Amino acid sequence: MKNVRYGIIGLKGVGGLHLRLAQQHADVELTALVDIDEAFVKEKAAELSVRGFTDYEEMLDADVVDAVSIATPHHLHAVIGLACLNAGVHVFTEKPLANRVSQADAMITTAKSKNLKLCVGHQYRTYRSPQTMKHLIETGAIGEIMRVLWTWIEFRPESYYARDIWRGTWRHAGGGVLMNQTSHDLDLICWLIGQPVQVSALIANQLHSVEIEDVVCANVQFANGAFGSIQLTINQPKGYSVRQIAGDTGAIVIQDVQSLARDGDDQILLGTYNPPLPALMTQTAGIADQPKIAWHPVQLLKGLGGHAVLMDSFINAILKGGELFVSGESALPAVELINAIVLSAMRKKTVDLPVDREEYDQLFDELSRGEVRVPRRKM
Ligand SMILES: NC(=O)c1ccc[n+]([C@@H]2O[C@H](COP(=O)([O-])OP(=O)(O)OC[C@H]3O[C@@H](n4cnc5c(N)ncnc54)[C@H](O)[C@@H]3O)[C@@H](O)[C@H]2O)c1
Repeated sequence: MKNVRYGIIGLKGVGGLHLRLAQQHADVELTALVDIDEAFVKEKAAELSVRGFTDYEEMLDADVVDAVSIATPHHLHAVIGLACLNAGVHVFTEKPLANRVSQADAMITTAKSKNLKLCVGHQYRTYRSPQTMKHLIETGAIGEIMRVLWTWIEFRPESYYARDIWRGTWRHAGGGVLMNQTSHDLDLICWLIGQPVQVSALIANQLHSVEIEDVVCANVQFANGAFGSIQLTINQPKGYSVRQIAGDTGAIVIQDVQSLARDGDDQILLGTYNPPLPALMTQTAGIADQPKIAWHPVQLLKGLGGHAVLMDSFINAILKGGELFVSGESALPAVELINAIVLSAMRKKTVDLPVDREEYDQLFDELSRGEVRVPRRKM
């Protein structure tokens, strides 16, 4: 295959970025644009001299693409993604991979069975702080991970949901702060720490008139035994989001995360214990002694380039069989963690992973139909 014939589905938001990246890529030929906004897609398609469609199925029937980006509201990622994969088309979907882990499974299985590439838009993994944290963990700077504290704090007013109604409903968005704003953070947590195995969580809607959750407190146990505490909210002005990852030989701390959605200048501190904690437990004589921890700032690695890196790895994987930067399989744990948090909170129980797919589908249907509702703030 010389050039990858490429389509963009969903144009007006982040799809515009996918469009620019496809246009700029040497091995991509932009051939199709799809959006339900007929006037918009017509104008854009005429401007770029490519085929324009208001229905992705018509685009598939026309046989004009080898690969697509999907940048639509969340509920369509699985529907359109599966239709494209079943038509033999490679898929780069925006995050989240899907609203339900059962749908994510189907996408991954279908891609695999048809030998197609499935890439997911978790570009936060390419940014400086996550790259630096990953490097520190992988090079053993903090030893075996034992504890994680991760907060994400921002503000979304009612006008945010009034502009894009789909973002406020379970049926379309698949959740609120979890699926929409912090699926990137939950992806980073799974990428850095590993597979979650048990979740106990609370979710609520404290301040918004829409259906979805706007605050989350979750306790998570990971496969390696580490404990994590996660707090996420869109009810407070942005500031002082904290990251702490502590291992048995040291800890990584970001006191006030700057780079929530881009390459920023975070101050990452690395603290190390000498000897490691297990030895300190037996060698520390005084019952109230506090062993010394040596803190020093870490030089941040360079960012790798956001969506451009994902697009490049997608095209390279299609043409040359290279590794995807973010594959469907590697994006699955974040969807599963989100589903587990919602299941735990709404059914008031501890949830073991893998999540029972049927159980979550049942809950999701009840949330979508308004038969169960996220708790409101007690006044
Ligand atoms: N990776 C990131 O950092 C990032 C940033 C922003 C958005 N996103 C994700 O991208 C996706 C889109 O978000 P957005 O903010 O661009 O949304 P948006 O609402 O601004 O844009 C969605 C587009 O999809 C179109 N659309 C809706 N239904 C369609 C259909 N059936 N067929 C074709 N087009 C359809 C809409 O007309 C619109 O142009 C979401 O999954 C979101 O979470 C990711």
